[in-house]
Amino acid sequence: MKVGIIGYGNMASSMLEGLLRSGVLSSTDVVVSSRTASRMSPLAERWPDVETTVDNRMAASRSQVLFVCVRSEQAKEVVESIRPSLSPSAHVVLINGGVRLSDLRGSDIRFSKVIPTVTAEVGKGVTLMHHGDNVTDEQRDCLERMFSAVGTVKVIDEDRFDVGTSMTSCGPAFVATFIEEFAKAAASRGGYSYEESLAMVTETVLATAALMSEGRNPASICRAVATEGGITERGLNVMRSDLPIMLDMVMGAILSEHRRTGPELGSH
Ligand SMILES: NC(=O)c1ccc[n+]([C@@H]2O[C@H](COP(=O)([O-])OP(=O)(O)OC[C@H]3O[C@@H](n4cnc5c(N)ncnc54)[C@H](OP(=O)(O)O)[C@@H]3O)[C@@H](O)[C@H]2O)c1
Repeated sequence: MKVGIIGYGNMASSMLEGLLRSGVLSSTDVVVSSRTASRMSPLAERWPDVETTVDNRMAASRSQVLFVCVRSEQAKEVVESIRPSLSPSAHVVLINGGVRLSDLRGSDIRFSKVIPTVTAEVGKGVTLMHHGDNVTDEQRDCLERMFSAVGTVKVIDEDRFDVGTSMTSCGPAFVATFIEEFAKAAASRGGYSYEESLAMVTETVLATAALMSEGRNPASICRAVATEGGITERGLNVMRSDLPIMLDMVMGAILSEHRRTGPELGSH
């Protein structure tokens, strides 16, 4: 099966790296087309067997599964331009939360929507997925299996993408910012460089997430660490007072951005 990618930017490169590294895709089965040839040079160096081109239609005509990885505002135009080249049974996958499949109605193309996450690069994280009505069971299974190799797949209704994306796809940026700010605040107290602090906080976040993935809930971890009147409790009191308000503002900012840009323009 040939898998095509149109638009080789940040998301396509993280996604493809994860899929190739996991072995779920073989580099000889992949064709990538992007507007600027030089953008694909690192790909050609790392995975020399991946075919690269600037001819979207050629890539489209040869692909049984075709990922359209351009920005939301470019997606519709790219789909229209490749439409005549697609085989009737081709499965086209959009990665834009802001493009609704109903925007592409009137089309007999079999569409799914996938919101990958940059953490797919290391084989982890949650991929959100939605399938159009005309996608066959075999095509659904194939796509879900592909992304199960780089994390967890969650199939959802299209109207759950906005909030879901904030957690799974924007989430890595929020978590990375938390780690960065924690490390900066610690380093500013002296005794540790920023780099040392960053490594220590990163390891702590990884370890805490591992505990939680084994069934420990946040409250039980807090109880285990924070003795009454102790230093952890003092820090937690500050977080519990300010963090809910801040995260509510973050969600508000994301969701009003979705509304402001409308279904066709919402993007990361
Ligand atoms: N970043 C994330 O975590 C994330 C997660 C899930 C979904 N997404 C979605 O993924 C989309 C892409 O994000 P990104 O960060 O990967 O953007 P990006 O880095 O700008 O990548 C888009 C790529 O598409 C290429 N392109 C544009 N028009 C083209 C055309 N007509 N034909 C061929 N290639 C074309 C661009 O070429 P040039 O190099 O010439 O500009 C660029 O390489 C966004 O809509 C976003 O909502 C992102």
